[in-house]
Amino acid sequence: MRRKTLVAGNWKMYKLSAAARELAAAIRQGLGSEQRVDVAICPPFPWLTAVAEVLRGSPIAVGAQNVYPGNEGAFTGEVNSAMLLDAGCKYVIVGHSERRHVIGEKDQFLNDKAKAALQAGLHVIFCVGEKLEERDANKTEAVLDNQLTWGLKDVPAAHAPRLVIAYEPVWAIGSGRNATPEQAQQAHVFIRWRFSQLFGNEAAEKLVIQYGGSVKPDNAASLLSQPDVDGALVGGASLQADSFLKIIRAAVV
Ligand code: PGA
Repeated sequence: MRRKTLVAGNWKMYKLSAAARELAAAIRQGLGSEQRVDVAICPPFPWLTAVAEVLRGSPIAVGAQNVYPGNEGAFTGEVNSAMLLDAGCKYVIVGHSERRHVIGEKDQFLNDKAKAALQAGLHVIFCVGEKLEERDANKTEAVLDNQLTWGLKDVPAAHAPRLVIAYEPVWAIGSGRNATPEQAQQAHVFIRWRFSQLFGNEAAEKLVIQYGGSVKPDNAASLLSQPDVDGALVGGASLQADSFLKIIRAAVV
């Protein structure tokens, strides 16, 4: 089946407010009325509402880069799903490798985040991916299996349609060394198979699986041409309208 491609820009901890607004406006302008690809932008927390404002009435969705799995309460510095929805978000990224390996978030916490965000009505871009030493030790599938099993534990099947999985091999993120289209395809097939065990065949067939890790204008088309690569989660190349728009265009078939 043909799944609709989702290209999302993860701005990470880049851009001040004026630059964030300008970038969002330039992407809006460049995209025009293109609706064959779903597009989302994930700016830093402080600019969510400003970017949502710039994008209002456009086909571009807003996503957050993090969420805390609580209702309101005394959690200094945290932001919950209701606040993200109120700020105009449709998506939230959970389990990004920088949160797993730099900030130190564990499967249980990521599972709590995913469940809470889905429960609140957000779409969750759940990231999985192996480190280089794990790939070299032939542990890629075992790592993906673990991350999916524990990260998605007890997610109700009714919420599966609002899940997106991003396969992001840690060694490919920000390194300029993307996975080959074949490596991506192989990992995506495994992820879809594991997802079908968790949520059934129909949900797995519909699941959008993004590839992320050094996606650039010159490698986007070959990655996205793989049958199980349904989109891209883009870091560095999403920080300029021109390169992000080229990646989106590469996704239009
Ligand atoms: P990159 O980042 O495109 O800069 O490699 C991807 C990501 O971290 O989502």
